[in-house]
Amino acid sequence: MKSATRIANLPPYLFAEIDRKIAAKRAEGVDVISLGIGDPVEPTPAHIIEAMSKEINDPVNHRYPSYFGLPEFRAAISRWYKRRFDVDLDPDTQVLPLVGSKEGIAHIHIAYVDPGDVVLVPDPGYPVYNSGTILAGGESHFMPLLAENNFLPDLGAIPADVAAKAKLMFLNYPNNPTSAIVAEGFFAEVVAFAKENEIVVAHDFPYSEITYDGYEAPSFLATPGALDVGVEFHSLSKTYNMTGWRIGWVAGSEEVIEAVGRVKSNIDSGIFNAIQKAGIVALEGPQDIIDDMIVIYARRRELVMSLLGKLGLKARSPQAAIYVWIEVPQGHTSASFAQLILDKAGVVVSPGSAYGPAGEGYIRISLTTPDDRLKEAVDRIAEAI
Ligand SMILES: Cc1ncc(COP(=O)(O)O)c(C=O)c1O
Repeated sequence: MKSATRIANLPPYLFAEIDRKIAAKRAEGVDVISLGIGDPVEPTPAHIIEAMSKEINDPVNHRYPSYFGLPEFRAAISRWYKRRFDVDLDPDTQVLPLVGSKEGIAHIHIAYVDPGDVVLVPDPGYPVYNSGTILAGGESHFMPLLAENNFLPDLGAIPADVAAKAKLMFLNYPNNPTSAIVAEGFFAEVVAFAKENEIVVAHDFPYSEITYDGYEAPSFLATPGALDVGVEFHSLSKTYNMTGWRIGWVAGSEEVIEAVGRVKSNIDSGIFNAIQKAGIVALEGPQDIIDDMIVIYARRRELVMSLLGKLGLKARSPQAAIYVWIEVPQGHTSASFAQLILDKAGVVVSPGSAYGPAGEGYIRISLTTPDDRLKEAVDRIAEAI
């Protein structure tokens, strides 16, 4: 059987590969500790689970959900934007609930990218920006995120002919995998660039609530003109420890929301209504879970940063998100260093090169491992190298 070319060009999904490596090592009897995936181990807060338990018993929720989400969930998202960022969004035309943001990030390509079109993809970046481009028959133009530019793309370095062919640009601050934050004024530059080149901007914003040391992450949609050129993806996954629930949204330009909704309604379904109702409780109930998680992540960040200091490994202490982006020692590549840590310490880290060519020379450690396991992983790495 011959599969479609677009499948042949698709790399294996990074985290599926990591899962495979973990399973293989465990089969050898190794007590593997994974620092590879950003998946909180703490439970979803009890009041959200209680709301879900109640809703799951109501047969009204057992039927097909609307493709475009419950009006009351859309309204809660709109209120969240107003409360958090003072952004006004029409819940009926500027908000679209998603089965986790990954779904919409993949679908937006289908709405905007024809074969041969260019997508501006941050490098390193969340793998779906590039995979979605491949699936749509487009071409990714990687925008290197370099330490010397504080991991922001240099818009001036995008050649004019590339910009002319570009339909879509992804951005993501606070950033995965570098944990970098956006510089003041950068989003305004992006709006101007997008207007000039008629590019749709897709800002991926899942780590907006996880910030340290008093830093507050700005929403792209709060930038003047942003609602004319783009959208923002968000999800409950990281904010409320709800990665398994699959609930998120895309919000912003009415035109883009309509286009993504058209794709979604044709090939995908809405979110289980009970989950949307629990999602309203997440957004509008007590928010202390977020502060509690920030304390936990900040503690783990210190643990990792102090190890790096001792080992002479270099990384910036993150001001947001849940990752530490570490330079590999001289003489190693991302892959060889990640392999060394796996073989000698039984610890899984993500090789930076898996997030794009400019990720070469780094590994990523996620702070979503319980403290005692993270401490053990850190001790094992120290001993191994
Ligand atoms: C940058 C980024 N975008 C999107 C997602 C997808 O999140 P979800 O599909 O759980 O909403 C993730 C998950 O790790 C991420 O790191």
